[in-house]
Amino acid sequence: MTRKVIIDCDPGIDDAVALCMALFDPRLEVVAVTAVGGNVSPEQATRNVQAILDQLDPPRRPRIGCAGETANPLPADARHIFGNDGLGNNDFPCIEHHQRHPAEKVICDEVRAAPNQVTVVACGPLTNIARALMRDPDLPSVIGQLVIMGGTVSAPGNVTPAAEFNIYCDPASARTVFRSAMTKTLVPLDVTTQVVQTFDFLDQIPDESSRAGSFLRKTLPYLYRSHRQYLGEEGIHLHDAVALVAATDRELFELKQMSGDVEVSGELTRGATVFDRRRLPQSRPNMEVAVSADGAAVTDCILRSLGEAARAT
Ligand code: BDR
Ligand code: CA
Repeated sequence: MTRKVIIDCDPGIDDAVALCMALFDPRLEVVAVTAVGGNVSPEQATRNVQAILDQLDPPRRPRIGCAGETANPLPADARHIFGNDGLGNNDFPCIEHHQRHPAEKVICDEVRAAPNQVTVVACGPLTNIARALMRDPDLPSVIGQLVIMGGTVSAPGNVTPAAEFNIYCDPASARTVFRSAMTKTLVPLDVTTQVVQTFDFLDQIPDESSRAGSFLRKTLPYLYRSHRQYLGEEGIHLHDAVALVAATDRELFELKQMSGDVEVSGELTRGATVFDRRRLPQSRPNMEVAVSADGAAVTDCILRSLGEAARAT
């Protein structure tokens, strides 16, 4: 039996890789892909979701949810890492759709249509998930599971010393989601950075003869260049792809029940995730957190999924 998933993302090359894996994974049925502003603006994120689907052309077309504007301008973006268009400056063509459904509506509709069966994988800021909760406060009782790429437990942040990018972009929404009763699994930077794709990864991804291979070969080299230029790293981290693996192959991760919250203000700490490790009654766990991963096995999983995508396209 396949598992229904919604990929909520702000593409972003690592988001695009996660999407490419999910769309052709025979264990999954991607019922919707919803866009959120983060790595790029909300408008660009929606265009990128559309463009990725057009490039990959999966046999079952998921519903698309459009990213709404945010009340305040995004405090950060990652165009220096992913290119001005978020996808390695490829400027993939994108046909505008007339039927534009807001991301949070699509999430609520799809979760309600299959109670307790839908896993949402949140690969961007938690804006859409918080809005979905506002729209349907009973969502926690009908959502299957929420897997979140975001935050840090002990690792340093990647946008400020204390904060990880997805949480930093919209800490208020992240706090709402963390404090909600949804069944959550957090995949923080501590774990996603344990999984490194060194240069030989590029030799192992599918060749250009398939749609998936061609898309990956047009986008991934940009990420290697920007990691070297801005981070001084000779490899890349596909954070969102690792979160997807946590949703499909959880046995590759060590998971711990923890009590997590988000700092929403603070000159140095805005967007930091805070875990209460005291043994007090009020420190009750509210999420499962990935604390370590079998990095080599996770990379194998990513390569296997990308291979499936190539065979299907
Ligand atoms: C997260 O931030 C984004 O830049 C990536 O796409 C990923 O979701 C990593 O901190
Ligand atoms: Ca992302």
